Amino acid sequence: MPSPPVLGYPAMDTLHHDMTALLEAAIAAPDRGLAEALTRLQHHCEHHFAVEEALMSERRFSGAHEHRHEHRQLLAELSGMLRALARGRYALVRAWLSERLPEWFRLHVANLDGLLVAFLKQNQPDQQAAPA
Ligand SMILES: [Fe+2]
Repeated sequence: MPSPPVLGYPAMDTLHHDMTALLEAAIAAPDRGLAEALTRLQHHCEHHFAVEEALMSERRFSGAHEHRHEHRQLLAELSGMLRALARGRYALVRAWLSERLPEWFRLHVANLDGLLVAFLKQNQPDQQAAPA
């Protein structure tokens, strides 16, 4: 799977790197390991999105509402895939992992995460706190 674009904000780039690795592991998992791999991905996403949302709140980012909404939608889809897996719908879950999630991730990082990083770079707390 191609890596998402590097944004030049290490705290977020590390999360994106970790998510790529967990997604690749889930795609490669055998059926008996798929629920565990998907659960690991879910836990990662909960943490990853919480870190970004804390940054948005701390820095009063104006695009936070839309960004949080995309995170919530993805977490809801992930929960739905875990329920589908419990019903034995492996093909659906594998299609979601190999097609839908990589596309969502690529677009989300390139657009909403990119906007957030541009904002964070322009509004460094150190610069704001520095004496004139
Ligand atoms: Fe995000």
